[in-house]
Amino acid sequence: MGTQVGGPLLPASQVDAAVTTFLRSGPATNRWDEFDFDWSQADAGVLTDGQRSAVEFITIIEDHLPGYFALYDTHFPVDDTVDRNVFVHNRELYHFSIRWAQEEDNHARVLARYQVESGMTTPDPLRDSLAVEGQKKFAVTYADAVQFFTYPLVQEKATQLYYQNLRQVIDEPVLAHILNRLSRDEARHFTFFADMLQRYLVTYGDAVVDPIRAVIADFRMPLADTIRGYWRWALKIADTARYDHTDAYEYLIKVLNRAVDTQSDKVTELVNFISACRTITTS
Ligand SMILES: [Fe+2]
Ligand SMILES: [Fe+2]
Repeated sequence: MGTQVGGPLLPASQVDAAVTTFLRSGPATNRWDEFDFDWSQADAGVLTDGQRSAVEFITIIEDHLPGYFALYDTHFPVDDTVDRNVFVHNRELYHFSIRWAQEEDNHARVLARYQVESGMTTPDPLRDSLAVEGQKKFAVTYADAVQFFTYPLVQEKATQLYYQNLRQVIDEPVLAHILNRLSRDEARHFTFFADMLQRYLVTYGDAVVDPIRAVIADFRMPLADTIRGYWRWALKIADTARYDHTDAYEYLIKVLNRAVDTQSDKVTELVNFISACRTITTS
């Protein structure tokens, strides 16, 4: 049983508009799944150790979908525990979350199948090893609804950028094809969350600045707190292809700049804060 998260909600008509734009970006003719790949070409033998390790890592992250979906199911209940107007809002959001979940589950399935078809592992050991992390709770405790759109905005963009970077160093055709597909989906997911955040800023202005700031102040990628040896693994992954979630911050800043014509001091201060949180690079 869920408990409705606090903080202001967008009018249901605004959620509907964002959801409609999202659904239009993924029409039936563009959908894809595991049956679209020529698995006979999959060959992990041509991957480096680091590349194989990256595939294992992203499979675990994608496979945790039940935990991510539960966040929305829990914090935006679609039942009689909430007032009618909240239900109406949550019902609109559900049109997004159910499709998004289906797409993320597809990512998990395709990556797992890749591991098997390419010879990295066999189905039963893979299922068991995914269950080790899959059973751990994905605990994200935010007090404000807007934070449930801010966090995934960063996470989806960071994931998209990582898949693109990894794609650049992969010669194996099936994995390259998969990474292209994945990064395009993550880009669409990012766009939905960016649309929602922009609408929040237009509708509520300074009132949502502190909750957004809190997400960035405390940001960690999914499962960073639960995967054993996460940080060592993340560094190893970054050796293979650039992996830095703060690369996504410039996209968040763009959303902030776009949302308001004349920036208040509070929004300006938030933009400066987010800029300061970015990893300093010399390139
Ligand atoms: Fe995904
Ligand atoms: Fe995604």
